[in-house]
Amino acid sequence: MGEAKSLRVKCLSEVAWKDDARMRLDIRESGGLETDQYEVKWTPGNAAGVLNLIDAVDGDGNERKVLVDVGWDVNYVEEVLKREGVDVLLAEGKIDAVAITHEHVDHFFGLPALTSINPDFLLLIPAGFTEKGRERIRASGHRGEVREMPPGEAVEIFPGIFSYTFPKKIFLRVQNEQVFYVDLAGKGVVTVTGCCHPGILDLLDRARSLFPGKPLHGVYGGLHICPFDEWTEEHDALIEKMKGYGVGLYACNHCTGTVTVRKMREAGLPVLSGSGRFGSKTDEYVGCGDVVEF
Ligand SMILES: [Fe+2]
Ligand SMILES: [Fe+2]
Repeated sequence: MGEAKSLRVKCLSEVAWKDDARMRLDIRESGGLETDQYEVKWTPGNAAGVLNLIDAVDGDGNERKVLVDVGWDVNYVEEVLKREGVDVLLAEGKIDAVAITHEHVDHFFGLPALTSINPDFLLLIPAGFTEKGRERIRASGHRGEVREMPPGEAVEIFPGIFSYTFPKKIFLRVQNEQVFYVDLAGKGVVTVTGCCHPGILDLLDRARSLFPGKPLHGVYGGLHICPFDEWTEEHDALIEKMKGYGVGLYACNHCTGTVTVRKMREAGLPVLSGSGRFGSKTDEYVGCGDVVEF
């Protein structure tokens, strides 16, 4: 097991959809959270999408770029890729892997925006993808290898960069979520998540058990703590528990929740601010176009 030499994560987009209320109504009107996401009648024009770029130097000294998630609306994702210059990286074959953290629409349906630029890339998906999801991958024209990440096992995709798939039933009939753990030399472990549906404490507990004795240097991505700001005492209790982990930096966004980051700051947790650009709702957390150097 090597250690990565450097790590930066660029938020390409953390905005999953434009209007929260519309998205929740779409789900409710289609039967609720137990409905198959492929049966939900999504309101046209509301979709955006989540995608992030890991830019690391791995343990062998090779520069590695891993695109984590591919967003939702294809036109939106095309614009984001262009704005951030990732279209050129894709076209030149400089993206070493594309990972889909989990099958949810906002992390996965934008795949054709990538394959239309270059269909040959290594695609990492968590085990448990549905047949409909696999059909979407085929229909995108993707021609590279599809590697299925086994649940409950750390897989070192590049020296010091690990994929770990949590076995977990998630709403809208999606199963399992892949996260990344980067073992960063001289600093500690950094996690990169799409939504963190398995929960922040499970994410951090797993980091501790996979990398015993290493500090928890940083957390990047969606943490799914209170995405719609409906705060309860249970959330307070969770924040209280998070204080015990000593995470060096929280660069959280997407489904973490705006009230959540305020409460995290009040509790003394180190939360990174952003620039509030390109559709991100606030500058209180890392947003679209922002780069985090770990
Ligand atoms: Fe999400
Ligand atoms: Fe999700």
